Amino acid sequence: MSLTSTTPRPLIAGNWKMNGLSAALDEARAVAAGLDRRPAAARVALFPPATLLHRLAEAVEGSFVLVGGQDCHAQAKGAHTGDVSAEMIADAGGTLVIVGHSERRTDHGETCARVAAKAQAAIDAGLEPIICVGESLAQREAGEAVAFVVDQIRNSLPASLTGKAFNVAYEPLWAIGTGRVASVDNIVEMHAAIRAELIARLGDQGATVPILYGGSVKPDNAREILAAPEVGGALVGGASLKAKDFLAIIEAA
Ligand code: 13P
Repeated sequence: MSLTSTTPRPLIAGNWKMNGLSAALDEARAVAAGLDRRPAAARVALFPPATLLHRLAEAVEGSFVLVGGQDCHAQAKGAHTGDVSAEMIADAGGTLVIVGHSERRTDHGETCARVAAKAQAAIDAGLEPIICVGESLAQREAGEAVAFVVDQIRNSLPASLTGKAFNVAYEPLWAIGTGRVASVDNIVEMHAAIRAELIARLGDQGATVPILYGGSVKPDNAREILAAPEVGGALVGGASLKAKDFLAIIEAA
């Protein structure tokens, strides 16, 4: 990515998904220790499961590592057994939250409208959301990928984003956890379409919103992906579970 004065530093985000017991805090400490050796060229964030959020935030306190939640409820509080509110994430030490991950959309039937409501709740609680979009393999093979993702962007962004910090993550479903990474051409085409939609919606602000790529990002492909036009970071799953791999990806930014 070509850096200008208004371009935010790339965000390298590690989504642990439903992985990580107490022992995994050592990996977070190792990431923090690795970053302490030099000023990080990227922003770095870890998204542990909700059970570890508070302890992980304490473990990396004072380091360059930011912490976030993997999901939040659209309501601020109330009778929603098993859910976590955006304010709870902030209270536990989080400053970011992922919303609309494809695993949430698939496993929990989350619609774009629900994702937009969650993103709004995150902003209301002072969190920086990462709003996820991405097409299925069937949609890509049918030539519908760009139209589908642009539609998801239109419907998953809340109304009041003006002046608010947020990120978009493009994660093609067929590249998640498969080892099959999207080609740089696919990524560039999709990120350009997302950028155009963000500018149409938000004007100048839309030109600087980081657009992360996610889907089998590894130490050996991170540099090429992160150098592509309009790629403002990476949302990393499997390779964020080991500090060594995650630090190598950060190094590539
Ligand atoms: P993988 O890096 O394991 O493919 O996961 C990507 C992802 O879904 C991150 O949110």
